[in-house]
Order: sequence, then C-alpha cells, then structure tokens
Amino acid sequence: MDIKLEVQNIKKIFNGRKIFSDINFQLENKSALAITGRNGSGKSTLVKILAGVLSPTNGQVDFYLNGKSIDLQNRYQYFGFVAPYLQMYDEFTAMENLELFARIRNIEVDKDYIDLLLKRVNLYERKDSYVREYSSGMKQRLKYAFALLHKPPLLILDEPRSNLDAEGISVVYQIIQEQKQSGCVVVATNDSEDIQFCNQEIDLNQFRNIAK
Ligand SMILES: Nc1ncnc2c1ncn2[C@@H]1O[C@H](COP(=O)(O)OP(=O)(O)O)[C@@H](O)[C@H]1O
Ligand SMILES: [Mg+2]
Repeated sequence: MDIKLEVQNIKKIFNGRKIFSDINFQLENKSALAITGRNGSGKSTLVKILAGVLSPTNGQVDFYLNGKSIDLQNRYQYFGFVAPYLQMYDEFTAMENLELFARIRNIEVDKDYIDLLLKRVNLYERKDSYVREYSSGMKQRLKYAFALLHKPPLLILDEPRSNLDAEGISVVYQIIQEQKQSGCVVVATNDSEDIQFCNQEIDLNQFRNIAK
C-alpha cells in the first residue's frame, strides 16, 4: 500500500489562542516525520489533526492510499495511534482488549498474529492478566500491539517512549524503522533521540507567537 498525506495551511485556535498556523508539508510513502517543539507547542494537537480526530480551525489534511483519496471517516482503518492519552479497558485482559479492538475494526481475529505482537512487546506471558494489573510501561507496550494489529500503512506515535524501559525503547525504535520500510510514521516527541530515524522534521517552536 502506498500512502501519502498532504497537509495544507493548517491552523489551530483554542479558545482564541493560536497554537500554530501555516503548517504545510507532504508525507510520502516510506518516510518518517518528526514533530518537535517544547511542551505546549502543539505536537499532540497536530497529530490528532493528522489522524482526523480533531478538526483544524483552517486548512486540510488529504490522505491518499494508492493514489485514491480516503474520506475522513474511513481513515481510522489505515493508521495506528500510540499516545499517553489513549485508554484501554482496565477490566478486560490484554488479549480481550486486542480481540475487542479487532472486532471494532472489523478485522479477522488472527490469534497467531496477536500472539506474535504480544511476544514482540514482551507481554505474551501476561496476555491473560487484566489491564488494571499492568504497570504503566506494560500498558504502553500493549498500545503498540493495538496500533499494529491491523498492519496500518501510517503509524502515529505521540511520545513514543512514555514509561518504557531500555528494552521497550529498543523495540519501539525497531518498529519505527520497519514502519518506514513499509509505509510511513509520524513521531511527536521532545526527545532528540526519538527522531534519529526520521527524515523530515516539523519544529513547532518556530510557529509560536506569530500574529494571527
Ligand atoms: N482541548 C483543548 N482545549 C483548549 N486548549 C487546548 C486543548 N488541547 C490542547 N490545548 C492547548 O494547546 C496547546 C498545545 O497543546 P498540545 O498539543 O498538547 O502540546 P504538546 O503536545 O506539544 O505538549 C497548549 O497550550 C494546550 O493548553
Ligand atoms: Mg503532547
């Protein structure tokens, strides 16, 4: 699958306060984009706009798959999202969460693939534990299994290393590199180490304090 994003003149105003404006870029297949900037510069806001879960005040994000434009309401099928503010069902086990998510997405529950993902993030032994019993780092690992379950051409990672240990971070860096070979990846982060595999960068600091 060949994916492409075209971002044109994006502006976001929250309660009269401009977060950013004039954001323009293209994201081609087989690339990795870093979104950087200090706390509050709008990284999470921008990734939510890219995913279509938040509307921009102005501008648009066009999403193409094999050259065909994909409607806003269908985009969720084509991206995986990892972020600190995403929640799973605490009263379900990891496996139940993944199976439920597969059904919501209307994809075949491929147990072997789920097992493979759980092994990849080193949670296989704990797949039948309730998520409420998970540590914050284990929850973060599980979010990667979620994000990759439908093999999305676009992976969006907001603060990719949140709560992860060294082993978890190295798995994430492998995932970023693999995603760059098969589709594209967007990484929003404050940490310069996280952007080592990115070939494009949007620095939101430079968009601060520009007059409306
Ligand atoms: N839902 C919201 N309502 C009002 N202001 C918001 C909302 N979400 C974010 N903001 C504001 O937008 C700015 C950017 O936030 P955010 O995108 O979370 O920054 P970052 O991810 O770079 O730390 C902040 O000033 C924040 O207070
Ligand atoms: Mg953020």
